[in-house]
Amino acid sequence: MTSIRSLEFLLFLLFHHVYSEKPEPVFRIQDNTIEMGYCFGADYIVVYRSSPEGDQLLGNSSADTTPVTPPADLQGRIKINKQEFLLGLQIHGLTPMDSAIYRKECWQNQTLVSQLTQQLFVCNEEIESEEIIVKEEDAGTELLCNSPSMRLEGTSVRWYHEMYPNYKLTLFLDTSVSLEPLVEELQSFVKVKDKGALLVIDNSVLKNNLHLYCFVFKGKNCLTMQNMHLPDRSENRDVFASQDERMVLHCSSEGYNQYWETPFGKFNSSDQMQNEMYITTEDKDFSLVIPKVTDEYTGEYSCISSSREMQYYLVLCPVKTSSPHQKTEFEGRNLLLNCDVDQEDQTVHWYRRLKSKKHITELIHYSSDPMVSIPEDLIDRLTASKKGSSLQISNLMMNDAGEYFCVVLRDLKILENYPVDDYTDTEDTTGGDDLSVDQYWSESERCIFKQGTILIVKDQVPGTSPRANPPAAAHIIGSAVAVIVVLLIVVIVIVIAIKRKRKNSQEQRKSDELDTQKDGSTKKDDPSTKMLTNEC
Ligand SMILES: *[C@@H]1O[C@H](CO)[C@@H](O)[C@H](O)[C@H]1NC(C)=O
Ligand SMILES: *[C@@H]1O[C@H](CO)[C@@H](O)[C@H](O)[C@H]1NC(C)=O
Repeated sequence: MTSIRSLEFLLFLLFHHVYSEKPEPVFRIQDNTIEMGYCFGADYIVVYRSSPEGDQLLGNSSADTTPVTPPADLQGRIKINKQEFLLGLQIHGLTPMDSAIYRKECWQNQTLVSQLTQQLFVCNEEIESEEIIVKEEDAGTELLCNSPSMRLEGTSVRWYHEMYPNYKLTLFLDTSVSLEPLVEELQSFVKVKDKGALLVIDNSVLKNNLHLYCFVFKGKNCLTMQNMHLPDRSENRDVFASQDERMVLHCSSEGYNQYWETPFGKFNSSDQMQNEMYITTEDKDFSLVIPKVTDEYTGEYSCISSSREMQYYLVLCPVKTSSPHQKTEFEGRNLLLNCDVDQEDQTVHWYRRLKSKKHITELIHYSSDPMVSIPEDLIDRLTASKKGSSLQISNLMMNDAGEYFCVVLRDLKILENYPVDDYTDTEDTTGGDDLSVDQYWSESERCIFKQGTILIVKDQVPGTSPRANPPAAAHIIGSAVAVIVVLLIVVIVIVIAIKRKRKNSQEQRKSDELDTQKDGSTKKDDPSTKMLTNEC
């Protein structure tokens, strides 16, 4: 499946809906409530229900008219909502009998400014929703409509999809009409099995924020409804910036209709930005650059598109020293980084921003959760002290050059343990800060400080700094020479010792022989003389 084809498919899904004039399908479960749209800034809202006898007026929010009497079956279940600029009409206690077409009109200055027609289906029961699990190795994913009513006589299945950016329900398979998808374009992406109870959907289509629904119908009645959705792909990250720091909030260019939601508004390209921020658009990148962080930049940032949603929370953090400490190390050596954590109740996060990775901020260690996933190149090379106050990266590589920093946070666990009526005693554990139990702890209040180190990695060219780091080969030769010299000395000493020993024992033997010859006694057996000769 080519990516162009799946793009065509997406565009098809998108426009297919936009141009359809049919009533919008809406599904509800019985006993629930439906809100018949909203009118913004209109003078009044009027709602009708279609019936074989013609339109029935359900409500008119205008204060000038006498209250409308709705049809008998809806009496006591209709409520008009007025909230400043918003007007709406609700129907409570829905029953399957309420399934029908409804029309909402918004009127302003005696003119109809907008209208919406919806087809309401009230289903008997909702089946628990399921997450769609896409396995990369398979080409397609099976989706099973999990309804006990499926086996009943005379039932049919309807499948709808709903997707970014409008999230409107669109019917794509109705087994009472056909066992093939309703539109030809879908037929190569969707295989229908088991009379429509089972679909096999091409994985290339399931990459995008897509919701699928299956409904089991008996005639015109909806028996069950089930929602199937892809896992939530949104990601959340706290970003700890210091005053005047340049920050890059990373986001890759993916999907379509991509934009950034920021505390200054919504932007989809750099042209629209009034402040100094900009979006990098080169090379599949859609990162947001903040050249100089100040207080007004703190808050939530989201990078949103059809296929991803990434959230950042920018926090301003005090710095330990005004400029980061610089460190130079050689390739192959070990790097030791320290963070001035001084208290038990502090959590330490370690981050890096590597030159080789476009200065993207990566979390590399988290003291309260050592299992946090770390970048692959650091597995086996990273060791941290128990409290995270120091970090060692072994066998440095040229690619390790960049910025490393620790962020020290107050531990939230300590706060949970606060004695409710006596928190003066706990002042010491929180660094003497005047804290109250009820105080709301935002991330910015948690951040105690940030401390950074800039690492420069030098390669092992001989002569760059021979004394600090003698090349390995020379080192080996040096030690080999030393070993040989030591061995030689040992051999010489041994040889001398053996020679002296032999000489001594020969002399001893001679004198012994002389002695024996002199007095005939056996001095040979005297242990003391033997000992003496041996000791020489
Ligand atoms: C709703 O009320 C307004 C104001 O009284 C009136 O002009 C309008 O005709 C009414 N609409 C319907 C459909 O009853
Ligand atoms: C409503 O109508 C009046 C008079 O016809 C006109 O002056 C006014 O601008 C209109 N307001 C809107 C919001 O169209």
